[in-house]
Amino acid sequence: MRLAFFYGLLITASLTACNSYTSEYIPIEKIGMHPNGTVFTGMQSCNQCHLDIVTAHKQTAHWLTSSKINSATVIPFLNSDKNYFDLKDQTRLSFSIKNDTLFQEAYRRPYKSPFFTKSIDINIGSGTKIGNSFLSWEENSLFQLQGSYYKPNSKWINSPGYPSFFQPKRPIFPRCLECHTTFSQSENWQSAIPTNRYNKENIVFGIDCQRCHGPVVDHVKHHRKNPIDSVGRKILSYKNFTQQQRIDMCALCHSGVGKNINQAAFSFTPGDALKNYLATQTNNEPDVHSNQVGLLKMSQCFIKSEGMDCMTCHDPHSNERNNVIKFNSRCIECHPSQQHTSLLPENTWDCVKCHMPMKASKIMKIEINSDSISQVLVRTHKIAIYKE
Ligand code: HEC
Ligand code: HEC
Ligand code: HEC
Ligand code: HEC
Ligand code: HEC
Ligand code: HEC
Ligand code: HEC
Repeated sequence: MRLAFFYGLLITASLTACNSYTSEYIPIEKIGMHPNGTVFTGMQSCNQCHLDIVTAHKQTAHWLTSSKINSATVIPFLNSDKNYFDLKDQTRLSFSIKNDTLFQEAYRRPYKSPFFTKSIDINIGSGTKIGNSFLSWEENSLFQLQGSYYKPNSKWINSPGYPSFFQPKRPIFPRCLECHTTFSQSENWQSAIPTNRYNKENIVFGIDCQRCHGPVVDHVKHHRKNPIDSVGRKILSYKNFTQQQRIDMCALCHSGVGKNINQAAFSFTPGDALKNYLATQTNNEPDVHSNQVGLLKMSQCFIKSEGMDCMTCHDPHSNERNNVIKFNSRCIECHPSQQHTSLLPENTWDCVKCHMPMKASKIMKIEINSDSISQVLVRTHKIAIYKE
C-alpha cells in the first residue's frame, strides 16, 4: 500500500517534469469580481500550465487594448515633437507629466496658465494601428478626454467624434468598456440603461483569457490538485460549441456597437446566445470598423462553406498582423487551384489584397489637424470580387 503510494508519487513527479509546466507557483489572486460571483484572477495564474499561450497573448491588440496609466505607459506618448495641438477656437491642448501623472491642460493666448486641467487615468487602444484615446475620473464618473494620440505619425490630435472647438469632456458609457476591457462594473450593471458611473476598483483592464473562456478558478484548482489529468476540466470548451456559439463570442465586440437589450453585455459568457444580450447591426451595409461579423456573413465563402468562423483564419492567441503568408494560405486551403478566368494585371499570390481590400470606415474618422479629416482604412471582411 505504502509502496504503491510511493511509486504513484514518482510517476507524478516524472510526468510533471516532462511537460511544459513551470515550477513557478502563483497563488490565485482576485483582480475583479462580477456581481454574479465570478472571480477574475488574471492570466498569471495560467502561466504554470499554458505559458506559451500567455506569452503570445501579451503581444496581442486584445491584451494591449486598455490599461491604467502609469509612468512606464506614459513615455511613448510624450515622444512626440510637440506635446500639444491647437483647436479651431484657438484653444491649445497640452500634455505633460507631473509626479508620475499624465495631464491634459487647456490654454488660451498668451498660454500662461491653463484654464482647465484633467489627469489622464486610463488608456484605450493598443496603438497597433491607429492610436490611443484617454479617459479621466471625476469621483466615480468616467469621461473621455479631447486629446488622442495618433500612432502613425506620433501626433496628438482631436479625439474622433469631438467638435473642432474646445469641449471639456464626454461621458464614457459601458459599451465602450465592454469592447475594450475584460470586465467593468457600472453602477446600474443589471440594466441596459447606460450610465458613466462605475465601481472604480472593479475594472479588469485588457482583454484577457477570461473574457473568451469564462470562469477559470475551479479549472486552475482542479489541475493544480491533479497534475497528471491531461484533459481540460471545469472549463468551457470551444470544441463543443456550435458555429453560432463560436461566432457569437467574437461578435460581442466585432459586430458593431449594436444595442444592449435586457442584460448588460458583461454578463455574456461564451456559449450564451448573444441575441439575448445585444441587438447587432443588421443593416445592408455593415461598417468595416468593428463589424467583421456582419461583413463576413455576406461573403460567398461563408455562405457556401460549412462551419466557417473567425478561427478559420485567425489564431485568437497570437499577434498575426501583416502575416500575409499565413492569411493567404488560408484562402488557398479552400481554393487550391487557380480560379481566374481573365488575365490579371498583377501576381495573384496575394489573394487578400484584391478580395479583402482596405476600405474607409464611415463611422470612424480622424482629424489629423484642424483642417483635414482622414479616413480610417480597415480590411473589409466581405470577401468578394472588387472591380478596382
Ligand atoms: C495546473 C495546470 C493548469 C492551470 C494553472 C491552468 N490550466 Fe488550463 N488546462 C490544463 C490542462 C492539463 C488542460 C488540457 C490540455 C490542454 O488543452 O492544454 C487545460 C485546458 C485548458 C483549456 C482548453 C479546454 C478545452 O477543452 O478546449 C482552456 C481554455 C484553458 N485550459 C484555460 C486556462 C486558463 C484561462 C487558465 C488560467 C486562468 C488555465 N487554463 C490554467 C491545465 C491548467
Ligand atoms: C463594438 C465594439 C467597440 C466599441 C463599442 C468601441 N470600440 Fe474601439 N475598437 C473596436 C475594434 C474592433 C477596434 C479595432 C478594429 C476595427 O477597426 O474594427 C477598435 C479600435 C479602437 C482604437 C484604435 C486602436 C488601434 O491602435 O488600432 C481606439 C483608440 C478605440 N477603439 C477607442 C474606443 C473608445 C474610446 C470607445 C468608446 C468611446 C470605443 N473604442 C468603442 C471595438 C469597439
Ligand atoms: C479573443 C478571445 C480569446 C482570448 C482572449 C483567449 N482565448 Fe483561448 N481560445 C479562444 C478560442 C476561440 C479557442 C478555440 C480555438 C479553436 O477551437 O479553434 C481557444 C482555445 C484555447 C485553448 C485550447 C487549445 C488551443 O490552443 O486551441 C487553450 C488552452 C486556451 N485557449 C487558453 C487561453 C489562455 C491561457 C488565454 C489567456 C492568456 C486565452 N486562451 C485567451 C479564444 C480566446
Ligand atoms: C471583449 C471584446 C472583444 C472580443 C470578445 C473579441 N475581440 Fe477582437 N478586438 C477587440 C478590440 C477592442 C480590438 C482592437 C484592439 C486595439 O487595437 O486596441 C480587437 C482586435 C482584433 C483583431 C485585430 C488584431 C490586430 O493585430 O490589430 C482581430 C484579428 C480580432 N480582434 C479577432 C477576434 C476574434 C477572432 C475574436 C473571437 C475569438 C475576438 N476578436 C473577440 C475586441 C474584442
Ligand atoms: C472554408 C473554405 C473557404 C475559405 C477559407 C475561403 N473561401 Fe472563398 N469561397 C469558398 C466557397 C465555398 C465559395 C463559393 C464558391 C462557389 O460559389 O462555387 C467561395 C467564394 C469565393 C470567391 C467568389 C466570391 C463571389 O462573390 O463570387 C472569392 C473571390 C473567394 N472565395 C476568395 C477567397 C479568399 C481571398 C479567401 C481568403 C481570404 C477565401 N476565399 C477563403 C470557401 C472558402
Ligand atoms: C477568410 C479569412 C478570414 C476570416 C474567416 C476572418 N478574417 Fe479577420 N482578417 C483576415 C485578414 C486576411 C486580415 C488582415 C490581416 C492583416 O493584414 O494583418 C484580417 C483582419 C482582421 C481584423 C483587423 C482589421 C484591420 O484592418 O485592422 C479584425 C478586427 C478581424 N480580422 C476580425 C475578424 C473576426 C471577428 C472574424 C470572424 C467574424 C474574422 N476576422 C474572420 C482574414 C479573415
Ligand atoms: C490582382 C487581383 C487579384 C488577386 C491577387 C487574386 N484575385 Fe481572385 N479574382 C480577381 C478578379 C478581378 C476576379 C474576377 C475575374 C476572374 O474570374 O478572373 C477574381 C476571381 C476569383 C474567384 C472567383 C472565380 C469564379 O469563377 O467564381 C476566386 C474564387 C478567386 N478569385 C480566388 C482567389 C484566390 C484564392 C487568390 C489567391 C491565390 C486570388 N483570387 C488572387 C482578382 C484577384
